[in-house]
Amino acid sequence: MSKMKEKGEITVRFSPQELRSLRKTARALGYSSVEEYVRSLAISVLPESYQTSARNNLSLEPIYRTNLGSVYHADALDVLATLESNSVDLIMTSPPFALLKKKDYGNADANEYVRWFAPFAREFKRILKPTGSLVIDIGGSWQKGLPVKTIYQYELLVHLVKEMGFYLAQEFFWWNPARLATPAEWVTIRRIRVKDAVNTIWWLAKTPYPKASNKRVLQPYSKSQLKLFEKGYNAGPRPSGHKISSDAFRRNNGGAIPPNLLALANTESNTAYQRYCKENNLPQHPARFPVLIPAFFIQMLTDSLDLVLDPFAGSLTTGEAAERLGRRWICIEKERVYIEGGIGRFEHESARLNRNFPTGDSYNVAPPVLKPELDNEPLPEDGGQRRTRNVETRTS
Ligand SMILES: C[S@@+](CC[C@H](N)C(=O)[O-])C[C@H]1O[C@@H](n2cnc3c(N)ncnc32)[C@H](O)[C@@H]1O
Repeated sequence: MSKMKEKGEITVRFSPQELRSLRKTARALGYSSVEEYVRSLAISVLPESYQTSARNNLSLEPIYRTNLGSVYHADALDVLATLESNSVDLIMTSPPFALLKKKDYGNADANEYVRWFAPFAREFKRILKPTGSLVIDIGGSWQKGLPVKTIYQYELLVHLVKEMGFYLAQEFFWWNPARLATPAEWVTIRRIRVKDAVNTIWWLAKTPYPKASNKRVLQPYSKSQLKLFEKGYNAGPRPSGHKISSDAFRRNNGGAIPPNLLALANTESNTAYQRYCKENNLPQHPARFPVLIPAFFIQMLTDSLDLVLDPFAGSLTTGEAAERLGRRWICIEKERVYIEGGIGRFEHESARLNRNFPTGDSYNVAPPVLKPELDNEPLPEDGGQRRTRNVETRTS
């Protein structure tokens, strides 16, 4: 006899003789309990797709909750299918990139990428509110053995805009000043490419007018701007053809409107997350973004208690940013071990409620510098196809 207790849970009664026999078989087959054996029998009669999720212990019930957020250990497509249409204010995510050197969690190949992403894109379009935004942080990748890049993230953008009907509200570039000078072969050995230090971040929406305000993300004014407030601009036409009046840019609005270049080193150390992973012997996620990346977009594009979703949540960085900014959130991640570490972000109430994000460093970006004196050292005729002997000068 069996009776439904609640969604997803049933009680089954066996006679004492049946139970004895099940115990014996379970033990003989190496199961630690009758329950485990019966569950495996049940899974074996489910369709193939369910079997994979069940074996990995994936679940459509949250495995962790805070007052504002829920974490699912699941394939994102399964959870997305359960969400209501037009219900999410911001999808903020960083999917696996199409890297040549694969991470442990698996990455689609560049030439397969759009096909892999398409079912997610369809769900994103369905669940996003008309006022909502879809923000995708996606890094580039190189072609195998060549000093040539793939264009998969641009193909994805074309797919999202041309085929899925999203609007490109704006493209952002995340410059990581701490990025190593790689690929070493092209950058530091043959010296035929420069340091690859930006990720693209696509900000998309279902309409041309997703809700947004740049007033929420103003930066400190530069010293030169502060001086201009004192002295004023020279009125008149600019080389660009724009005419500015004497006081057009004189008003101090409490901060500078940021450009679409986010300068942020990915060098977080000794965060609550990192300490928690170390204390609990858990691996740190190998491809995290700094919490200021999701925090920037959450602040600019959502209001308090709006719903933020990260379907490829990794170590729950987006969840942390949303929690600290007082937004509701959902994180989905298929690798349980990353969730286990990510939970450390919410263990202390002081961390959960801390709205003071690290400010990050400011950088002076050098303008392009030329070295005409090196003109007498001709460029490699073969474009660097062969290594020359003169390869020992390395800089980062
Ligand atoms: C680039 S990482 C995200 C890192 C995250 N932004 C952070 O700061 O920790 C991409 C993550 O997507 C997860 N993932 C890949 N396919 C998935 C799927 N179908 N459903 C859920 N998670 C998936 C991977 O396991 C990986 O942890």
